[in-house]
Amino acid sequence: MENEDIFLDTVLKFHKEDRWKDILKLNEKSDKDCAIKILWVWPSEENLDFLRKICDERNIQGVISVGCGSGLLEWILSKSLGLDVVGYEINKQWWESKYSVPTFIKLRYHDQSVQENVLDPRYALLFCYFNNGPAFLEYIDNYKGNTVIIIGPSRGAGRHTDPEPFKANFGGMKWRLYGYQEVKDTKDFIVVYVRLCDN
Ligand SMILES: C[S@@+](CC[C@H](N)C(=O)[O-])C[C@H]1O[C@@H](n2cnc3c(N)ncnc32)[C@H](O)[C@@H]1O
Repeated sequence: MENEDIFLDTVLKFHKEDRWKDILKLNEKSDKDCAIKILWVWPSEENLDFLRKICDERNIQGVISVGCGSGLLEWILSKSLGLDVVGYEINKQWWESKYSVPTFIKLRYHDQSVQENVLDPRYALLFCYFNNGPAFLEYIDNYKGNTVIIIGPSRGAGRHTDPEPFKANFGGMKWRLYGYQEVKDTKDFIVVYVRLCDN
């Protein structure tokens, strides 16, 4: 069996056994290529504590993750934060094909345009390594809640996302930076924005 298969099998085994902390330990230094195939950003427990604090401060009831991919981060968030976490993707056919990586939550699909009523305003909206600026704007327009979390690379990381965490284009001036934390020492950041009218 290839190393990559062994890695994935171990993640799947720990997922089945509810061992999210052990999953994080499999890529503690964020240096394994086989790990990136199932999740771009592997947080530390400190990062999860940061997110828990944000959710407490903002009275967040859950997280809607757009472009969740395999949903591994979302599953870890649901376990570590103790919140409902839902994940949206496009291209159901791909994600349900034998070629896709396994999924760790039940994915929901947004192949048509985003409906306002599916974006619960009590939930934070999360984009991790999202790669579609126009779609980001559409989600923001349809989201009536007040907390957006963007995870992605800072300048110098050698990677690109749209939106960029520190230069997100919200299509106006209605959002302000609330807090941020680096993901270990990866030059990836978790960046939190809140609506301007919110303190
Ligand atoms: C680079 S991947 C990141 C996946 C995952 N968040 C991660 O960090 O491993 C970006 C994902 O966004 C999804 N995506 C792109 N446009 C989307 C849209 N309009 N709605 C939902 N997901 C979308 C893509 O299918 C892709 O899986």
